Amino acid sequence: GFHIGTAVAGGGHHETMPYPDPFTSDQPYRAVLAAEFDSVSAENQMKWEYIHPERDKYNFGMADAIVKFAQRNRQVVRGHTLLWHNQNPAWLTGGTFTKDELRSILRDHIKTVVGRYRGKIQQWDVANEIFTDSGQLRTTENIWIRELGPGIIADAFRWAHEADPKAKLFFNDYNVESVNAKSNAYLALIKELKAQGVPVDGFSAQSHLSTRYGFPGDLETNLKRFSALGLETAITELDVRMDLPADGVPTAAQLAQQADYYNRTLTACLAVKGCDSFTIWGFTDKYSWVPVFFQGEGAATVMWDDFAKKPAYYALKETL
Ligand code: XIL
Repeated sequence: GFHIGTAVAGGGHHETMPYPDPFTSDQPYRAVLAAEFDSVSAENQMKWEYIHPERDKYNFGMADAIVKFAQRNRQVVRGHTLLWHNQNPAWLTGGTFTKDELRSILRDHIKTVVGRYRGKIQQWDVANEIFTDSGQLRTTENIWIRELGPGIIADAFRWAHEADPKAKLFFNDYNVESVNAKSNAYLALIKELKAQGVPVDGFSAQSHLSTRYGFPGDLETNLKRFSALGLETAITELDVRMDLPADGVPTAAQLAQQADYYNRTLTACLAVKGCDSFTIWGFTDKYSWVPVFFQGEGAATVMWDDFAKKPAYYALKETL
């Protein structure tokens, strides 16, 4: 029942990336994707701005292709994501809608997207990054919470559950690997929602780590707090970035530290009952989002640009 997954590259804000879509045009990429993983997540292809580019127009092409690929290769799929403050289309964020309109826009979107893949998605990241690092709801950045109030979060889970009763529904965030203000906020919210009968099934830690910082050594302890509530947990977006030396080539010591972080994340997940899904955010540096988003950092995945394996790959393989 344990799944090892990766994000499927493409559709992002990789303005600086000189490649055509990896999933459709890079055959060696597809071969590794099929061979090494039994779970896939759409890196961007199921996000609002991608899948719902105009109010009355959906763009299902890539999401359909990923789901089909997964079925052909006997992989499960993680859906990402339905309620988020980022990567929303301009028609939504710049539009003028009444509260009733906005509510039905979200409801229709969830019913349409989740319903389309009913029975084919194992886990959905229903709500993504709803809290700040200090544990406050993102009441200004998140259009749904700002306009409709925090109750919309429970509604999103209810609508997703109606659209696909078998999909496991998750809260997903970064900087929640440790016991801290943000993960505490999730614990409290999820307790409250469960008490109200809201269909929440899981809590996941993205795990975008950096060797600049120490490893979140209480990851296992933290996840266990959620599994004690009867929840599933997951690692959903693991990568371990590092400061690139001037020549761009990581040192052996950096690669060893990275391998250690990958290994400890997997080890923590394996030690937690109900942590059955472990996903890395891309498997090759060739298409990693890290150098685009974190200045001076990179080399965050388990394979080099040519798919040669780094120590981190072997560390995971050994632990599995
Ligand atoms: C990132 C993608 O990897 C990029 O391609 C895109 O341009 C921006 O988003 N948290 C999330 C993911 O939940 O959706 C983000 O993915 C990384 C941070």
